[in-house]
Amino acid sequence: MSDVAATAPSHDGFAHKALKTSGVIWFLAATVGQWLFVYYILMTHGRATLSGNYSEWDDVGLISGYVDGDLIANLLFISHVLLAVIMIVGGTLQLSPPVRKRFPTLHRWTGRVFLVIALFLAIGGYYMTWARGVRLSDIGAMGVSFNAHLIVFFSALTFYYAYKRQIDTHRRWAMRLFIVAHGVWFFRISLMGWYLINQGPVGSTRQLDGPADLVISFACYLVPLAMLELYQRAVDGHSTRFKWAMTVGVLLGTVAMSIGIFAALMMMWLPHI
Ligand code: HEM
Repeated sequence: MSDVAATAPSHDGFAHKALKTSGVIWFLAATVGQWLFVYYILMTHGRATLSGNYSEWDDVGLISGYVDGDLIANLLFISHVLLAVIMIVGGTLQLSPPVRKRFPTLHRWTGRVFLVIALFLAIGGYYMTWARGVRLSDIGAMGVSFNAHLIVFFSALTFYYAYKRQIDTHRRWAMRLFIVAHGVWFFRISLMGWYLINQGPVGSTRQLDGPADLVISFACYLVPLAMLELYQRAVDGHSTRFKWAMTVGVLLGTVAMSIGIFAALMMMWLPHI
């Protein structure tokens, strides 16, 4: 056997197929949860905006929401939430293999739209948080702020490698961007999952600056990011044991994520729809 063949990743074994299948299962579960978030946004902020009852934005218990007479604040808020819908729907289409393979032009455009909106949400969200004071506490806003930095950084790298035509590296940064661009969604499902498992807000405060809030506000996207790196290494590598370990890891992660989605649906989204 040549050296190349000896070190080449094994892509046709059972372990490899199981690993890839676990990735698909994770993606399908995440898609359901992200579309439920979209449904919540449309049924609350979307409906209130279409009917012209802007003050109803606040009915979900926002920090700021509608500000009477402040056109900039209101435009910033509503563009933020409605563009979030386009980004989330576009993101799931972007990673869906049938769409990627059958409609490459659509794939390229949804990718560009995803990247630009993710940047807009990160910068606009950062501005609302720190320049307009829409935050519950300084410490509580650290996690989402670091998330915003990662979105900007990963967007730049995703764009750079596409421009350089280094498609494999571009794809890897795009996947990382997908994870951090859903940081606020991960935060919601993680926090609600935590409340559900503990039957209450253990270590969490109304200002979201308790120990559990702090850990969750960073871990909610850093743990999925670490999982993605390990998954990618397992896919690329040729260790069967590592592939099996990651298959189990991804499936357990999917179970945890599904509990969080259920909790967010029951405690955060459905009560407002
Ligand atoms: C990039 C992905 C993002 C998405 C999909 C997203 C989505 C949303 C949604 C749906 C809301 C409405 C909240 C609700 O109804 O419960 C919202 C509000 C808000 N977001 Fe984002 N967001 C993102 C990023 C960010 C970032 C990075 C920041 C800050 C650094 C941020 C700051 C805010 C603020 C300040 C509000 C208003 C909260 C309030 O008044 O209570 N967002 N976002």
